Amino acid sequence: MPGHAAPGVQFKEPPIFELGAPGRSGASLPELDVPPVDVDNALGAVRRSTPAALPEVSEPEAFRHYVRLSQWNYCIDTQFYPLGSCTMKFNPKVNEWAARLPGFAELHPLTPDHLAQGALDLMVRLQDILAEIVGMDGVSMQPAAGAQGELTGLMMIRAYHQSRGRSPKKVFIPDSAHGTNPASCALNGFDAVPFGAGDAGIVEPETLARALEEAGDDVAGLMITNPNTLGLYETAMPRLAELVHSRGGLVYGDGANMNAVLGRARPGDAGVDVMQFNLHKTFTTPHGGGGPGSGPVAFKKVLEPFQPTPVVRREGDRVRVYHDRESSVGRVRSFLGNFGMMIRAYTYIRELGPKGLRGVSDRAVLNANYLAAQLRGVLPQAFATPMLHEVVFSDRELESATGVKTLDIAKRLIDYGFHPPTVYFPLVVRGALMIEPTETETKQTIDEFVAAMKAIKKEAETDPEQLKKAPLLTRLRRLDEARAARKPRLRWRPADPE
Ligand SMILES: Cc1ncc(COP(=O)(O)O)c(C=O)c1O
Repeated sequence: MPGHAAPGVQFKEPPIFELGAPGRSGASLPELDVPPVDVDNALGAVRRSTPAALPEVSEPEAFRHYVRLSQWNYCIDTQFYPLGSCTMKFNPKVNEWAARLPGFAELHPLTPDHLAQGALDLMVRLQDILAEIVGMDGVSMQPAAGAQGELTGLMMIRAYHQSRGRSPKKVFIPDSAHGTNPASCALNGFDAVPFGAGDAGIVEPETLARALEEAGDDVAGLMITNPNTLGLYETAMPRLAELVHSRGGLVYGDGANMNAVLGRARPGDAGVDVMQFNLHKTFTTPHGGGGPGSGPVAFKKVLEPFQPTPVVRREGDRVRVYHDRESSVGRVRSFLGNFGMMIRAYTYIRELGPKGLRGVSDRAVLNANYLAAQLRGVLPQAFATPMLHEVVFSDRELESATGVKTLDIAKRLIDYGFHPPTVYFPLVVRGALMIEPTETETKQTIDEFVAAMKAIKKEAETDPEQLKKAPLLTRLRRLDEARAARKPRLRWRPADPE
């Protein structure tokens, strides 16, 4: 029976297609009280010749299957999830309440603008608030994730250059950048030109100046994450922006890590021309990777004509939606973006207010620094530079002394009840272990995590071979992750071999 096995025997949950029996159903519908539709006539050639092979299960079978799967997984509502660079923080339930208010949740996306003024008003308010938080002139709520925000921002940079009769190719990106940065460049037809950060883990103006010099007239821009993916603040930002602007380029700021500087620093003031927010990383909306996300783009006035359509703007006492704008890069998502996420972010921002938002970044930084201080002597930190919201350790000393690697530590943490941190990223750090506690965790939780890390270090010194088999207490043991990544089985087939 699914979900059951002899004691000590590992079992697998079959796909739902392998549960149930022919003819079984979980629905009980009333008798048809309207004339039946002539399906052949109504559908004609598109009618299927064989019924779809859908699962035929009872309601308890379906329910238990999904609840079992959910309980065997880690989630932010049950466990500490210190995934550096992914910011898995608690999603306050009041945000969910607001997003489910019937007036919002049941609003059809094709509702005429004059009947959707409440929702549009929320959008414009959020646009204005986000612009103020980062010191920019406008915001488009269209993109559905951070990466799509990057893509959109770079489309705007390309359109800007084209409007001036130029088509420079090179976008400079520090080598600690998130992988989505070069991907967004490539998708826009730009050449992503990587360059190294200095010994302190941040970009040195002289290095960038040299790289720009070599590119001559071909500088489209700089794409830089601040705070960067090592959790470090790019202190030379205004100078870097000056250098890029003097070459005719624009500065793209990856704002995914804004939760570290809310109310403390504004990218717009430091010379950034266009940037994206990751609402899930900064404003407690559920994480985009597993579902609908939102990655609004903020821009300076010079890029305003190129923002995606539709443009939502207040005109007097009404909010209007503009679909046709001559210089726009066009539509990047259906309808007006992911509205549910906007409600959640708006609720969070209004709940906290300016002082509360500053408190968010203060606590994010305090928690990361507290955790780093507690782990001093357990693992070496990748950089001595004071960090903000996340901390990167290396396994280099532990591996040379015991053979235990970052992956082993990560797997053993699961046995201790913690989701592993981000591992082997950024690539510039050997055996990186990147931890972001976030502002929503308590000192007690961080202390428990630190205690687990210390215990694992001791295990590495006393019984490294056992540790390399971790996880030891889970339903499934160590999985073949390389095979899963290279040969993913994403589609169920009846004859699929085990
Ligand atoms: C620095 C940085 N940039 C971009 C992204 C991409 O954001 P998303 O996952 O919403 O596409 C992430 C994701 O966490 C990130 O950490």
